[in-house]
Amino acid sequence: MKIIRCKNYEEMSREAAKIVEAVVALKNDAVLGFATGSTPEGLYANLAADCKAGKADFSKTITVNLDEYCGLAADHPQSYRYFMNDKLFNHINIDMNNTHLPNGKAADLPAEAARYEKEVAALGYADLQVLGVGHNGHIGFNEPDSFLVQDTHVTDLTEDTIDANSRFFESANEVPKQALTMGIGTIMHAKKIILLASGANKRDAIATLFNGKVDPMSPVTVLNLHHDVTLLCDDEAWPL
Ligand code: F6R
Repeated sequence: MKIIRCKNYEEMSREAAKIVEAVVALKNDAVLGFATGSTPEGLYANLAADCKAGKADFSKTITVNLDEYCGLAADHPQSYRYFMNDKLFNHINIDMNNTHLPNGKAADLPAEAARYEKEVAALGYADLQVLGVGHNGHIGFNEPDSFLVQDTHVTDLTEDTIDANSRFFESANEVPKQALTMGIGTIMHAKKIILLASGANKRDAIATLFNGKVDPMSPVTVLNLHHDVTLLCDDEAWPL
């Protein structure tokens, strides 16, 4: 694993943007795998600013997102589709038809999971996957469990995750209890992965990664098996 230790969130976001832009510069129709949550917001702000300044071109870029809440429509302010449009897609020169997320409002959610897995596979999986990490070690919404799921699937969110994500909702009751998420196999198909970690509450998760063991109770540890992972970690998240 390559490690880029950063002073703070701003530096981490800038370094991440450089990597994303380098991938797109080399391959303008690259498939970028994106995450939501607080961690990549700075990255997306950098991409938007660089695109506006003419330093990055996303006109041919294709995107696939890790996950989406079940039950939230695309226009719900807490849906991940809304987040991606609001934080990134509306501010760059991307063709919206090339942006893909699972549909959390699908009538048949397992069928939607299977459809999304096929869609991502047909695109050849991500050239670059951006990941954040939950303080419990989850990636996407692959939660700690006694086993890891390979493909895109419907998952129950843990109480921990519902608690952590309730900061975006009026109350914890409003946080959806299920999500559609890429599986560990879908993520591991990415040709290159960058993992972003910022803040003291990510220190334990990064410590489990540094243990070198693959433990389904901390799904991020599976990244120890991938051949091209770069961890961008700020001082507060640094566990050593
Ligand atoms: C969301 C996702 C999650 C987040 C994780 C960290 O698409 O994939 O795994 O990356 O929950 O969230 P933040 O960045 O809000 O701490």
